[in-house]
Amino acid sequence: MTTENSCQHVAIIMDGNGRWAKKRGMPRTYGHKKGAENVVKITRSMKESGIKFLTLYAFSTENWQRSKDEVDALMQLLNEYLDKELKEIMENNVRIRFIGERYMLSPSIQEKMLHLEKESAENTDLTLCIALSYGSRQEILAATQKIAQKVASGKMDVSQITQEAFSNELYTRDIPDPDILIRTSGEQRISNYLLWQLAYTELFFTDTLWPDFDKNELCDIIQSFNKRERRYGKN
Ligand code: FPP
Repeated sequence: MTTENSCQHVAIIMDGNGRWAKKRGMPRTYGHKKGAENVVKITRSMKESGIKFLTLYAFSTENWQRSKDEVDALMQLLNEYLDKELKEIMENNVRIRFIGERYMLSPSIQEKMLHLEKESAENTDLTLCIALSYGSRQEILAATQKIAQKVASGKMDVSQITQEAFSNELYTRDIPDPDILIRTSGEQRISNYLLWQLAYTELFFTDTLWPDFDKNELCDIIQSFNKRERRYGKN
C-alpha cells in the first residue's frame, strides 16, 4: 500500500560539514565543498519526491563570526554555485529565492542572486529557498518595525495586526510554512531558523552529517511524516 504524500515544504539545517571533513583528516572547507555538492543532489531528490518547496540554511547571521578564511571559502562556494547552477535550475524547472540580510553580502553576489531569482521566477516544479545571512529574530524584528511604522503613519490599525498581516512582512511571505524540518549531524537545536514559520512543523533530527545525507534517508523521513500526520492530525 502506498502512503499519499502530504508534505509540500521541507526545511533543512545542513549541519556537520566540518566534522565530516575532520573525520577524513581534511580541512573544514573541504566539508563545505562536499556539502555544496550535496545541495545539488538533494534538490534533485526533493523534486523527484514531489516536494514543492525546499528551504536550506546555507549561511546564518551568526556564521559571519567564523574565521575570515572559512567565511571567504563559504562565499567562494556560494559564488561558484550561483555561476554554475543556473542551467541545472532552468532545466529542472526550479524557482530560486533567497531570504536573509542580503545587503551584508558582496555587491557581485547580490547581483547574481537577483539574476537567478529573475531568470527562474516563472518556474513551477520546485521553489528552492536559500537562507543566506539569515537570522529569524532579525527577520521578526524587521517585520515588527514595518508594522509599527504602518500603525504610526496611520496606514494600519492595531486591530489589523493579525497572524496573516505579520506573516506578510516576513521574507517568506508567499511561501507556505514548512511541514518538515530536518537537522543533520545529531544537534537538536533550531539555531535562529524560521522561528515563526516552524510553529506547527514536524521536527526530524538525524546523526548523519550533511555531506552524507541522501535520498534514502529523505524518503524515510517523508514516509515517517506521512504516518505521523495520519496519527496526530495537524495541530
Ligand atoms: C554547517 O556545518 C554548515 C554550514 C555553516 C554551511 C552550510 C553550507 C553549505 C552546505 C555549502 C554552501 C551552500 C550552498 C547553497 C552553495 P558546520 O561547519 O557547522 O559543521 P560542524 O558543526 O561539523 O563544524
